[in-house]
Amino acid sequence: VSVSLNAGGRNQTASLLYGWMHEDISHSGDGGIYGEALVNRAFQGSGATIGSVPGVPGSSVVSSENPILPWGPVITGWQGIGDVDLSLTLLHPLSDALRVALQVDIPFNATGEVGILNEGWWGIDVRPGTYNASFYILSDKPRNNGTLSHIDLSLRSNLTSDVWATTSILFSNGTNISSFEWTQYEAQLDNTVKAPNSNNTFAITFDASEVAGNTYYFDLVSLFPETFKDRPNGIRRDLGQAIVDLGTKVLRFPGGNNIEGYSIEQRWKWNETIGPLRYRRGRVGDWGYTNTNGLGLMEYLQFCEDGGIEPVLAVYAGYSLDVWGQDGVSFPEDRMGDVLQDILNELEFVTGDISTPYGALRASYGHPEPFSLNFVEIGNEDWFSSTYPYRFPILYNGIKQAYPNITLISTAYNENANYNISIPAGGMWDTHHYEEPTFFLESFDYWDNWQEATNNTGVTIFVGEYSVFQVDTPDGVVNYSMPLGEHIFFPTLMAAIGEGVYLLGAERNPNVVKMSSYAPSLVNLNWQNWTPDLVAFTADYDQTTLSASYYMEQLFASHRGAETLPVTTIQGTFDPLWWVATAEQGDGVVYFKVINSGNSSVPLTVDFDRTFTAVNGTILTHPDLGAFNYLDNQTAVSPAPIMNLPAIAAGQTAFNWAVPPWSINVLEFQMG
Ligand code: AHR
Repeated sequence: VSVSLNAGGRNQTASLLYGWMHEDISHSGDGGIYGEALVNRAFQGSGATIGSVPGVPGSSVVSSENPILPWGPVITGWQGIGDVDLSLTLLHPLSDALRVALQVDIPFNATGEVGILNEGWWGIDVRPGTYNASFYILSDKPRNNGTLSHIDLSLRSNLTSDVWATTSILFSNGTNISSFEWTQYEAQLDNTVKAPNSNNTFAITFDASEVAGNTYYFDLVSLFPETFKDRPNGIRRDLGQAIVDLGTKVLRFPGGNNIEGYSIEQRWKWNETIGPLRYRRGRVGDWGYTNTNGLGLMEYLQFCEDGGIEPVLAVYAGYSLDVWGQDGVSFPEDRMGDVLQDILNELEFVTGDISTPYGALRASYGHPEPFSLNFVEIGNEDWFSSTYPYRFPILYNGIKQAYPNITLISTAYNENANYNISIPAGGMWDTHHYEEPTFFLESFDYWDNWQEATNNTGVTIFVGEYSVFQVDTPDGVVNYSMPLGEHIFFPTLMAAIGEGVYLLGAERNPNVVKMSSYAPSLVNLNWQNWTPDLVAFTADYDQTTLSASYYMEQLFASHRGAETLPVTTIQGTFDPLWWVATAEQGDGVVYFKVINSGNSSVPLTVDFDRTFTAVNGTILTHPDLGAFNYLDNQTAVSPAPIMNLPAIAAGQTAFNWAVPPWSINVLEFQMG
């Protein structure tokens, strides 16, 4: 091929192309990126029952709780220590939002250590660092009213008698007895050891000699390890870092299906995800478990700010799914004004200055500066819904009128949609592709003539969800029941190659495809709603596993270039080699991304119309096309420097190399 830096025909690359999609699915939020280490901290129900076996590729998780309606107070995740009796009560609600409390009855004849422990989200990672603990407690008519008792907080092994860290606080029995008021206690555990595994618990204990005969109530018991950028109520540090390290430029949140709710009432209500945790009720998420809403609108936006990421805020668009397999339920047209007003309130909360009511509310929660917000997505996958044609224009026009500078994204573009809606120039379509490898290879040119084919509407593309979902099958139809032998449970090298070719096609069309995000992004291996996912994790940070698809994206995202370069084919054609060339500002560096989707090496010659002085490269490959990263081999498919690149002579303009079979490569030329 011939790469020209001297000729015209360049395009600016799409600076936001590599993004991340987050919704709470597969416990990727609660029990995932949300830094809270304790399960069921406020007895809202967790859905997190014992059941799954991490370590079995292909196993999907079955919960013993009703997967549709897990709501309801449960003691899941809690155990008594010593001679105590645990129950749940509505007698002393912590707030209207958190109405259930844990009642701990300590018999008169109790001796020794008594208390409660929390098992964490299938364990607790214990490593050196500070753990911030807090809890609300109320003592109801204690035997020793007015006296001080010790409460010990500790991180412990669940397998041995090891106690990793402990701290003690003094608490006053019954001070608030007259008003039945709760008291919040906060404490830090400074831990210096690394536990050998994550089978650990968090314990709150008393000495029975001080408290026998008493009844205590607990609620909102919380434990945060150090978070991403040390934010209170923040993001789990390693997972936040993984998102940033991919090179993520945009974050689409909070859904996905999870914004829609399985009923209108259970939709993601932005205003129930803000403010003190004590007043966040939580909801039944769309993926069969409770969302505490501790990870709320401000936490997402703060993470974007900390990570240098553009938020793409998805707003509820008046449509909720129906998990019973019937049509979803929509707001009627004459009630869409309510939906619009709720969105406008949300946008004021995000972007309004402190002179506005919602901007002032945001300021009162600790963020006086408005958040930056340039993209709003209206709904999710609305090609499923026949009501989008009336819902979308009402919301589009209403938002545009108030926020003319925000780019609005429609979710209704789909090849299979049974209707068309149009959106004005400057808008975007969110398209989704869960397909087989061949679809992705054949989609290298998917966007090549898309503008022309869609009448040059000036609307661009956000590929908001994509992944190779299964191997090639005779009918080419995706089977969502994920049959063994067909489904891809963890992104394989083959998947990364297919998706990589598809992304090269996007890179070649920066005027069409502006943003993309793989989905779903994160899976807790103890609760897999959906596979494959970009990153797998457990409670144990050392088990966080980046997939072949993640590494492919990271490789591409870290070698962007400012402009695409025209590449002319002198001999041969695409398939099995696929490529794109870009140059950094000033043309000092040229990136040549090349994928070989075939099973033998293929000679490549790149002719430049300038000299280059050096080349180095990175390769992602494996002898087995089906190889994937997993707990037992986290880096099976991971990037490595290319070792066999030819030496470069002075004045050289042509580069020759044989591209290894089944490989994803980035060559970096220093131009001279
Ligand atoms: O990514 C999983 C689901 O796939 C999303 O929630 C939904 O938008 C799509 O159908």
